[in-house]
Amino acid sequence: MPEAEAGADAPANNPYVRDPATSFAPVEQLSESEATEQAELLREAIHYHDYRYYVGNDPVVGDRTYDALFSRLQDLEDAFELATPDSPTQRVGGEPLDELGTVDHVVPMLSLDSSGEADDVREFAARVEREVGAVEFVCEPKFDGLSVEVVYEDGRLVRAATRGDGETGEDVTANVRTIDSVPLRLRGDPPSFLAVRGEVYMPRDAFQAYNAERVERGDDAFANPRNAAAGTLRQLDPTVTAERPLDCFFYDVLAAGESEADATADASRGGLDGGFESHWAEHVTLPEWGLKVDDRSEQVPDVEAAIEFRNRLGDQRESLNYEIDGVVVKVDDRAQCAELGTTARHYRWAFAYKFPAREEVTTVADVVVQVGRTGRLTPVALLEPVEVGGVTVSRASLHNRDEIEAMGVGIGDAVRVQRAGDVIPYVAEVVESRSEETIDLPETCPRCGSPVEYEGPIAFCTGGLACPAQLVQRLSYFADVLDVEGLGERAAEQFVEEGLVADDVAELFDRSVEEIAALEGWGETSAQNLREELKAARHPPLGQFLASVGIREVGPTVARDVAAEFGTLDAVLDATEEDFQSVAGVGSVVAGHLREFFENERNRRVVERLRDESRLGEPEPVEREAATELDGLTFVFTGSVEGWTRGDLQDLVQRHGANAVSSVSGNTDYLVVGESPGQTKRDDAADEGVPELDAGAFFDLLDERGVDIE
Ligand code: IVH
Repeated sequence: MPEAEAGADAPANNPYVRDPATSFAPVEQLSESEATEQAELLREAIHYHDYRYYVGNDPVVGDRTYDALFSRLQDLEDAFELATPDSPTQRVGGEPLDELGTVDHVVPMLSLDSSGEADDVREFAARVEREVGAVEFVCEPKFDGLSVEVVYEDGRLVRAATRGDGETGEDVTANVRTIDSVPLRLRGDPPSFLAVRGEVYMPRDAFQAYNAERVERGDDAFANPRNAAAGTLRQLDPTVTAERPLDCFFYDVLAAGESEADATADASRGGLDGGFESHWAEHVTLPEWGLKVDDRSEQVPDVEAAIEFRNRLGDQRESLNYEIDGVVVKVDDRAQCAELGTTARHYRWAFAYKFPAREEVTTVADVVVQVGRTGRLTPVALLEPVEVGGVTVSRASLHNRDEIEAMGVGIGDAVRVQRAGDVIPYVAEVVESRSEETIDLPETCPRCGSPVEYEGPIAFCTGGLACPAQLVQRLSYFADVLDVEGLGERAAEQFVEEGLVADDVAELFDRSVEEIAALEGWGETSAQNLREELKAARHPPLGQFLASVGIREVGPTVARDVAAEFGTLDAVLDATEEDFQSVAGVGSVVAGHLREFFENERNRRVVERLRDESRLGEPEPVEREAATELDGLTFVFTGSVEGWTRGDLQDLVQRHGANAVSSVSGNTDYLVVGESPGQTKRDDAADEGVPELDAGAFFDLLDERGVDIE
């Protein structure tokens, strides 16, 4: 990464800010006062680097340098017991809680009046101008996350709370401390007491990756980033929070002053601090204190410009990496805001101009049960069609038995349906119950009549490939994984209905152009194209082959890991459950699914038929490097290493002969500790006497052993 210049905002006379030397004298050679001084300089520098990276988006040093500074600080704090609560090393600390405590807010956290109609915004502006004369506005994205109050005393983060009922919220201090973009220590010259309001959210890309991981593990996906953020923020174990990427925008000073009493003396003015003349001044000052704001905010001269801002932002909505559900239009002048005051629930100086809702209320007309590729039965509500965020929705998932029970949903009920980004619509809650009975899931599969078995709340058809619904799903999944175009769910349904595929996906290759062309809506050309697509899919890489056959909880990532471990299809077919467990990323459950799949005679026959030259042919083996530089070593990884996923790191050491496992034991040689590491692993390592390596030391070790990192 090209390193940027440290700006005028950099701490003066700090050797760790610009081009810092990252080789240090051994800790033992320092006196306590030297260590204390160096640690403080390191903290100051790391706070600055965090600020440049997370708030300014313009880092001064690269990852390696940052990691070296960080681990030096950690070493000093460990050796001399110097850790301070605001040290960057203390983002994750503290024990899991039994429950979250409650916190009284410094000033009430009120809500906003809102509407999706431009005329309502015009009316808001007209009322405001009637009361206080001409005004200018600030327009800001309305972040769709969770509102938090964060309190700083003498520049140190002391408390964070959710909004709760507006008066009292939940104490989420330990969790908010893990959010990298929330400073533990403010910069510049902040007031002694400062309470700010912000919105915690999960970035969309992180949400998608996190959800994919959950699905691959067999957990239910979160419906939207907001739910994922809420679940994470309210976690009782901050080490879990630290492993999930949350972020935060700040947008309001709730109270500021010499002391809490001073800061809240004018709370009657409706959450307006004493110090700022305008909202825009807050927007400019917050980042000077290290608090991240959204650069998309703008000052606008009148309500028409605010409406235009909202429409423009609406066009960008899908391309942002965070969810927004509208624009907040705020009177800029704080004196005017004070005059406008509040109602019991709302600020009268601000208005949320929302985007078209991605949730609507409609009626459940019926419930059907859908059968997935692995036999999973998903209850689906058939709805009175309703437009949700620009898309007509007539079906929505009801998830599983537990969800149905918890919601108490029945046919005829009015329900709230939500849709978030690319996620399929789902029923969020019952708004009005109109039915006597709730829905029961069937005891036999609605497609093939086989008995249903439950694993926890999730129902599975036991019919295996004999169930046509499973076959349809397998077929379209197979085509999807192998990038075969033209064989979506509807076409797969036709193939199965018309008997072109009766038992297994391999039959797909045995159908002639004539047979396919005879299907309704097909012709010579499309049939020919499908044959070509199938031909192009021949000899797929082993990982893709393994993913395509639809083994439970074995998606493309796990399949690739399995392929990398075994190299050839024969080796996979010969593997025992124990062998599968030795694959990084495969736990006992997935190893069990793999074994079950390959033990099943019928599945083995399908695999053999597929690998026949007349069909997919032999999958391409994965070249396994016979590298042995790390032979006999066992690594455990915790925390994140910039530029590497956990899987990549595990792959890397495995390719060179080492084992990578997920928990520390007496057999572990090294615990590699990245950013925001898990405390449990570190405690286990300390108990077992397993040495820790920071990222720098880890790469040094590989280097020493002659491992070539491409
Ligand atoms: S201003 C102190 N600005 O939307 C003023 N609110 O009911 C508080 N929200 O829960 C409102 N983005 O948490 C404001 N840029 C923004 C916002 C925002 C999201 C949330 C707020 C509140 C909800 C409105």
